[in-house]
Amino acid sequence: MTLQRDPVARSSTPARTGYRNLVREDRVHRTLYTDPEVFATEMVNVFGGRSWVYLAHESQLPEPNSFLSVRMGLRPVIVTRDRKSALHVVFNRCSHRAATLCREESGVAKSFQCPYHGWTFRNTGELVGTPWPQGYGEDFDRAEHGLHKLAKVESYRGFIFGTLNGAAPSVVDWLGPAAAWLDYWIDRAPEGEVIVRSAAHRMGYRGNWKLAYDNAGDGYHPAFSHRSLLEMASRMGDSKDMSYFGVSPDEGPMRTYLLGNGHSVIDQRPNYDGPGSFWANQRPQPGREKFEEQIRANHGDDADRLLDLCVGSQINLSIFPNLLVIGNQIQVVEPLAVDRTQLTWHATAIGGVPDAVNTMRMRTQEDFPAFGEPDDQANFEEVQRGLAAPEAEWILMNRGLGVDGWQEVGPDGVVSSTATDELHMRRYYAAWLQLMTEEAM
Ligand code: FES
Ligand SMILES: [Fe+2]
Repeated sequence: MTLQRDPVARSSTPARTGYRNLVREDRVHRTLYTDPEVFATEMVNVFGGRSWVYLAHESQLPEPNSFLSVRMGLRPVIVTRDRKSALHVVFNRCSHRAATLCREESGVAKSFQCPYHGWTFRNTGELVGTPWPQGYGEDFDRAEHGLHKLAKVESYRGFIFGTLNGAAPSVVDWLGPAAAWLDYWIDRAPEGEVIVRSAAHRMGYRGNWKLAYDNAGDGYHPAFSHRSLLEMASRMGDSKDMSYFGVSPDEGPMRTYLLGNGHSVIDQRPNYDGPGSFWANQRPQPGREKFEEQIRANHGDDADRLLDLCVGSQINLSIFPNLLVIGNQIQVVEPLAVDRTQLTWHATAIGGVPDAVNTMRMRTQEDFPAFGEPDDQANFEEVQRGLAAPEAEWILMNRGLGVDGWQEVGPDGVVSSTATDELHMRRYYAAWLQLMTEEAM
């Protein structure tokens, strides 16, 4: 292939070129995945400086004074409940000389004492004590040295988001049509209660964080990247997963919906027909037949509903920039460096069902990450390796662009397309560009 010269000089940095030249209608520039300067700006603007970022699920903070250490971009933060259970998010960064205060992942604490020199802070952020206070002058005011706090913290039905932008719209406004998809996912639980309480599954890859977000809305890759998993599922016989082989998913009923602000969803539910069909298309598992027999014997007419709750929601919901709701799981994209990312998968249980259903849910959540995620992460690492060739400058996202009949506008104004359209990338990059370039949201 002949390399084509492009107006963006290969030696220019994104800061010099301007982000607007690097995000085009049909392609994005490789430096958005390789340049540390781009990454540094993303960690400020995209991850919390201007927009909302997902931080935690409320069920991870089950009682008053619970806390959880997480990151907002690269900023270490502690999500806390105070004694009345109200939520707060403070920087996990001592206001004395910057040491992290809390080095536990989670727990219960009314206050945090810095291990370095012993300053103590309430779980709401106020400084309550400095050892040997006679060492500070009379003008030392403890009220001026509390922990940094986020401008806004809001929860949408258990999903906690935070931002440093005091002018950000409410979370529900920012979620827009995505809120209804979260509602579907949450309301599958009979009592509307989703519980994240088991240990998380963490995997790191040597690649940029956006590779995971690109892929979450990508219905093009499964037939190729997850072939072994799909073949294993289809050995059961009448699996709907067979539709991936030989036939383009664009001819099937699955759709991708664009939900604004970089959010989108792939809806796989039209692949299934009626109660019990999510379960019927689940991959083979040890003990599956006996489990089904018992549920049918004990629950009669309600068995199909309970069996479907054992398997995934059949939606892949992407909330920009870092929350992916996939099957029954919550996946969090955690950037570490321009070419290093951690993905954390939280399995979920639900209230209002027999324990056996939650036990089977844990088994069905083994597909991803255990079988499928290594396929995806291998791709992310191979893309990052491919990006080391500076002469090949562009990443394409043009599939579906200008193809007649693919994109439709629904009665609610929501744009949808076939599952392999790269419209998901084109739209989220528009949201990304706005956060990277505009003064305020
Ligand atoms: S850095 Fe925390 S007390 Fe000194
Ligand atoms: Fe995948």
